[in-house]
Amino acid sequence: MQKKKWSLADIEVLEKKKRLHLINSCTGYKSANLIGSISSDGVENLAVFSSIVHLGSDPAFLGFILRPTTVPRHSFANILETGYFTVNHVNESIYKKGHDTSLSYPKEQSEFEIVGLTPEYQNDFIAPFVKEASVKIGCKYSSHYDIKENGTILVTGQIISIEAPVEAVDHDLFIDLSRANTLTINGLDGYAKTQTIERIPYKKL
Ligand SMILES: Cc1cc2nc3c(=O)[nH]c(=O)nc-3n(C[C@H](O)[C@H](O)[C@H](O)COP(=O)(O)O)c2cc1C
Repeated sequence: MQKKKWSLADIEVLEKKKRLHLINSCTGYKSANLIGSISSDGVENLAVFSSIVHLGSDPAFLGFILRPTTVPRHSFANILETGYFTVNHVNESIYKKGHDTSLSYPKEQSEFEIVGLTPEYQNDFIAPFVKEASVKIGCKYSSHYDIKENGTILVTGQIISIEAPVEAVDHDLFIDLSRANTLTINGLDGYAKTQTIERIPYKKL
């Protein structure tokens, strides 16, 4: 198989968009999620994020990487204001609408309305979930950490609720994301379907 290779020197001189695509796709498939939040004066916000990662299960924490705050970051501002946010898996029926939440709309406009997704409120949880998503996580903001190398921020949140379709949950509570129709993202704009091949039990020596 013929291969293409890039050294640091090659990467540094790449045209901006090409570098963006190369660097965003070289680390593997990423999670595709919509973060739902609300400002203290009640304006809902929805934005697509591909950097949500598991941080630990006991206590249950996740994190995501926020781009530098050189422009207003509405999700982050809302999360700091209210302390809560939701993480909603992108699936095949909503990925185009979800993708459009990445455009920078004014803070007073709700991306739910603009792209045509439905805010869903559960019990007394303040942040909106996405009704059309099948896997939904309620989170309580915990901390954020500046990444000095490039001005990004790691935001951490405690998982305080999880919802998934019954048909996607195995007996041991593994959520089979392919049965939940969750998509994955290749780079910044390549949405892909998944198929679980096999579960291999975790072994300890
Ligand atoms: C596929 C995709 C993934 C993205 N992932 C992230 C991410 O992980 N972190 C981030 O800060 N922005 C990410 N963005 C950009 C945000 O969606 C975009 O900045 C959005 O306008 C943020 O909205 P907000 O200001 O309402 O929070 C991504 C955009 C796309 C298209």
